[in-house]
Amino acid sequence: MKKKKFETIAIRTQLEKTENREHSVPLYLTSSFTFEDAEQARAMFADEIPGNIYTRFSNPNNSEFIEKMCLMEGTEDGFATASGMAAVFVSMAAFLNSGDHILLCKSVFGSTIQIANQIFPKWGISHTYADITKPESWEGLIQKNTKMIMVETPSNPALDLIDLEWLGKLAKKHKILLNVDNCFATPYLQQPAKLGADIITHSATKYIDGQGRAIGGIILASKELIKEVRFFSRHTGPALSPFNAWIFSKSLETLAVRMDRHSENALKLAQHLEKHKEVELVKYPFLPSHPQYELAKKQMSAGGGIVTFIVKGGLNRGRKFLNAAMLSSHTANLGDTRTIVTHPASTTHSKLTDEDRASVGILPGLIRISVGLEHIDDIIEEVEQALEKSK
Ligand SMILES: Cc1ncc(COP(=O)(O)O)c(C=O)c1O
Repeated sequence: MKKKKFETIAIRTQLEKTENREHSVPLYLTSSFTFEDAEQARAMFADEIPGNIYTRFSNPNNSEFIEKMCLMEGTEDGFATASGMAAVFVSMAAFLNSGDHILLCKSVFGSTIQIANQIFPKWGISHTYADITKPESWEGLIQKNTKMIMVETPSNPALDLIDLEWLGKLAKKHKILLNVDNCFATPYLQQPAKLGADIITHSATKYIDGQGRAIGGIILASKELIKEVRFFSRHTGPALSPFNAWIFSKSLETLAVRMDRHSENALKLAQHLEKHKEVELVKYPFLPSHPQYELAKKQMSAGGGIVTFIVKGGLNRGRKFLNAAMLSSHTANLGDTRTIVTHPASTTHSKLTDEDRASVGILPGLIRISVGLEHIDDIIEEVEQALEKSK
């Protein structure tokens, strides 16, 4: 049969119907599964036959979510986790041993930085940070014991990109695993495995849920790599709850239409802000003024839902802008149907020095907008009134 398109896969990949002939997949809220007899139990524990044993290992709802994500990202297998951070942690910890080194893009998510700075050193795993804006320096940072490269593209919140095809080749040349956090783009806009990534992680909490309801994550890779992830997870216990897996799998049915509208709204807002006299700079991957516009067009099919801009007036104006928000939400999340505004310099990245903030593109007046699915005219009006009030 001809391979189905993304939207069809998202909607029609489903567990087999039970004898109840349900149309929507039921929830399998069970901690464990029964065995037909002693021989079946033995064979399942010995991995001689497939089957669910215990929900910490696998569950039908999780399997459906994993299967859909594999088809969307173009990977063979996966493991679903209780949060995006569990996915990021396991995707590194399952492969790194004492004495290994990891090359991390400096602009990865804050908790990923904390794992590298505070947790991995306890186990003798070292790291080096690479600057996303200086790819020419990356090869020189690879050491003999470098086992993994971990990146996010587009980065949060600066929206800088790294060329995944180039990075995939670099990782192959040095026999290093390339791990890509694809949370901002989602598989609808960018498929890192097709460009050379070995491991893909997601915070499903963001666009995969898309409605700000559930925390979760997923790791996707080849069967061989997921075997190690599954062993690590089976015994350390970061599994996703089947209830959340059911939510995510349902949400994936609308991922394509949501991402189309998020991207359309975000582009219109970015174009509007670019002409605004109270705005110093706007960054959005699909704006021709983005320094990596050509790369964005090459590896993404649209720009995604995040826009950042620098408001004139620095830190104080940024804080005033947030206080002036009326329609949009002021909350620590992104990828929701609701537009969310954040001011990284005074919140998520306030503990960094000015210098460290600047090195990952966070200037005092930088505002990040996770552009929602409200009508674009209302989103623009909201930003206009907040810019006016915060003067
Ligand atoms: C790029 C990225 N990766 C990972 C995470 C962590 O995900 P979670 O909050 O689901 O643990 C986040 C959360 O904001 C994120 O933005």
